[in-house]
Amino acid sequence: MDYKQQIKKERLPRHVAIIMDGNGRWAKKLGMMRVLGHKQGVNVVREITEEAAQLGIQYLTLYAFSTENWNRPKEEVDALMSLLVNTIVNETATLMKNNVQLLSIGDLNRLPDDAKRNIQDCIAKTSMNTGLKLVIALSYSARWEIIQAVKNIAQSVKNEDIQVEQIDEQVFSAALTTKEMPDPDLLIRTSGELRISNFLLWQLAYAELYFTDCLWPEFTKEEFYKAIVDYQGRERRFGKTSEQI
Ligand code: IPE
Ligand code: IPE
Ligand code: MG
Repeated sequence: MDYKQQIKKERLPRHVAIIMDGNGRWAKKLGMMRVLGHKQGVNVVREITEEAAQLGIQYLTLYAFSTENWNRPKEEVDALMSLLVNTIVNETATLMKNNVQLLSIGDLNRLPDDAKRNIQDCIAKTSMNTGLKLVIALSYSARWEIIQAVKNIAQSVKNEDIQVEQIDEQVFSAALTTKEMPDPDLLIRTSGELRISNFLLWQLAYAELYFTDCLWPEFTKEEFYKAIVDYQGRERRFGKTSEQI
């Protein structure tokens, strides 16, 4: 039952994306306020980031706050924002120690000034690190991202920088916030919900999907290894036949 030993180092997913869901239900189950679920969720982020770095995964993208999450009660949004600021400030030293580079995707302009500034500081400080790239999706939604990309490409056509005929998958990918990243190989969603919730709609085209009932605050490194082992057991055909692989 030791999943870590079953992981084949030569077949690691290059990019793992996670929809970290279930913080609120975890807190409710224990009779606590939702924000305490988010606090516990941060501890799990720390543990999984460290594990991903140690395993040698190159990209870990974490869905931390969606465009739609702005519609939650103001108290919860405010609590999430201050948790975010504190976490980034407190964790920068650990990211440096572990050679982790922080990146973000999403509309940072919607964040409170201090949150935005702290994230940008951490991104700048860790920019020379060469290990794991930790990508935080903040105020992110795939439809928002796709609309931005369409606007950018339309502007380039208008400026005559490119011709309409030149627009292809590469041009489109390069207009997305994930332009320098490989597409996720593995998407994990916790908490038993079987949906994508507006996350990386373009980039997940051929990702392997892994759903677990485990709530995010209860997610452990064992669960993480288990998801990777499951992924390594899949045959990725990309439209071809089994015989061609
Ligand atoms: C995920 O947990 C964290 C965020 C979306 C910020 P939730 O807060 O969605 O927890 P549930 O789904 O209500 O249990
Ligand atoms: C998705 O979780 C967004 C994040 C994990 C940040 P939600 O809890 O917001 O998703 P829905 O509303 O259940 O689809
Ligand atoms: Mg949720």
